[in-house]
Amino acid sequence: MKEQIAAIQTEALARISAAEDERMLEDARVAVLGKKGSLTLAAAGIKDVPKEEKAAVGQLLNAARTEITAALESKQLALREIADRAALAGIDPTLPGRPILTGALHPLTQIRDEAIRILRRMGFALADGPEIEDEFHCFDALNTPADHPARNEKDTFYFDSGKLLRTHTSSVQIRTMESATPPVRIIAPGSAYRRDEIDATHLSVFNQLEGLYVAEDVSLPDLKGTLEYFLRELFGTSTEVRFRPHFFPFTEPSFEIDVKLQVKGQAPRWIEVAGCGMVDPAVFDSINKGRKDDAFNPDKVTGFAFGMGLDRLAMIRWGIKDIRLLIENDVRFLKQFA
Ligand code: DAH
Repeated sequence: MKEQIAAIQTEALARISAAEDERMLEDARVAVLGKKGSLTLAAAGIKDVPKEEKAAVGQLLNAARTEITAALESKQLALREIADRAALAGIDPTLPGRPILTGALHPLTQIRDEAIRILRRMGFALADGPEIEDEFHCFDALNTPADHPARNEKDTFYFDSGKLLRTHTSSVQIRTMESATPPVRIIAPGSAYRRDEIDATHLSVFNQLEGLYVAEDVSLPDLKGTLEYFLRELFGTSTEVRFRPHFFPFTEPSFEIDVKLQVKGQAPRWIEVAGCGMVDPAVFDSINKGRKDDAFNPDKVTGFAFGMGLDRLAMIRWGIKDIRLLIENDVRFLKQFA
């Protein structure tokens, strides 16, 4: 029995060391330690060993099992290491990885979202309207006479059908009042189109954000307070804001709003950011006529409206000198806003 155990051990260790892969090693393990393995069968024979030798034979069996198990484990580690090295052949794991580029929101999207967030906190709801408009919603209903220069073919993209690309988002004021009843408090961000010569401050497609608030007793101080608060939220609490009398056909009185731009090393400048005013009663009259009711009775409700250039807000916020950068999608430029 003792010689038998020694022979099993020698053979097992030889087979383990000769194994070329994990499969051969597993076969070797089963042949010795498996249910019908040589050592397992030999151990079963211990019952026939004379009593006085049992302890010694038992010890031999245990020692053989321990040594074989240890040989199996170390051979397995060695085989894995060889396999790992083979898998890496030709690959240099010390090379730096390829960077994963993450996207970010476009500066225009950032400023638009921020403007919407501020105004929504103040109770304005989002409204929408078509970019292909008719003259009625873009001009007539906004009290803009047929001979107004904004309606000129040189300034506006007209389709053969007589429709046009909206020149401003103010048309959404009309679309909203056609179906809502006061109080109305909406904002409408969106594209506007003009046949402008493209240069550092003009594009033929640009972005506006329109606002309209109609209710009982809406006053000029409400307009001023709302827009001053808005601009200070956007540009900083110490931002100076100025209302300059102006003319728009659909508001009376009307203003242009400037913010004071302080660029380090430069004299401060006033920059125009928006138009605004108190809704002209003629606009309400036209709405009521279309609806065939008195929902926007100018004797009962008043309102203010405003429209601002989102591109311009972005240019001021980040000191962008050329509006064309906002549509060129040059990653070197856009990266700065990530
Ligand atoms: N629609 C005007 C423009 O595009 C901006 C504007 C001025 C909008 C006064 C308004 C407003 O709502 O009340 O130049």
